[in-house]
Amino acid sequence: MNKEQALDRLLAAKNFRDICPDTVKKEFEIQLARRGDPSAAEKAARERLHAVTGAFMTPGEARAVGACLDEYLSGDESALTRALRLHASTRERLEWMDALFSRVLSFTGGPSRVFDAACGLNPLYLGHLGLKGVLGWDIHGGAVKLINDWARACGWDVRAECRDVILSAPDETFGLALAMKLLPVLETGCKGSALTFLKSLKARFILVTFPTRTLGGRNVGMERTYSDWFASEIAGHFEIAEVFTAGSELCYILKEA
Ligand SMILES: C[S@@+](CC[C@H](N)C(=O)[O-])C[C@H]1O[C@@H](n2cnc3c(N)ncnc32)[C@H](O)[C@@H]1O
Repeated sequence: MNKEQALDRLLAAKNFRDICPDTVKKEFEIQLARRGDPSAAEKAARERLHAVTGAFMTPGEARAVGACLDEYLSGDESALTRALRLHASTRERLEWMDALFSRVLSFTGGPSRVFDAACGLNPLYLGHLGLKGVLGWDIHGGAVKLINDWARACGWDVRAECRDVILSAPDETFGLALAMKLLPVLETGCKGSALTFLKSLKARFILVTFPTRTLGGRNVGMERTYSDWFASEIAGHFEIAEVFTAGSELCYILKEA
């Protein structure tokens, strides 16, 4: 199989049809440069794409989020919780989500525009809170469509785009940018990309969070590992305005240094 055939196969694969095509190409090129062989690169890119996006929400879960919208529109607010439970990242956060956002929004003074980078389903919660000018980017086209469907039906000032935060950044300036549980995903793909991404954002405040437990719920010393790595990574570039823990999520509010 040559390079073009391997990439075409990857782009047409059922599991990846909904993923941002630029991301699929990027992951394939990275793996090809590492391995040389197109078939091996295709296999490795599949694994990486599953780990960075597919693993968080299955196609069946995405369909179920769509079904929750009708219940929410009929006045059943608990349908939002059921929808947020269908993406691994918001599922883990449900218990402390209100406390986390109430602290961040009061610290940052109720920002008028919010960028949610690699947002998953989090903008559904932001729309429900009544935040204005919310823009979410994610490489998962299914999540992006669901956010736009909910926002349109509920009349929220929220929109989402299928974009890769490594390949570009929004031109607009935001009161608050969210980078929740994202930096480890970026850094495992390419060393140094987390800091490059943070520096590409135009925002008064940036909320960065890290999981302190694995997807399976185990405590394997992640809090210490991430806090040590993060402090050295951002030194000289950003000032930490606030740090706190919410449930099993380590949270930083950054300002430019
Ligand atoms: C760990 S989840 C975090 C989701 C959300 N930030 C939250 O905490 O609820 C990672 C998300 O990042 C998305 N993602 C991974 N790499 C990305 C990239 N380079 N650009 C945009 N989104 C990305 C995945 O599709 C997935 O929804």
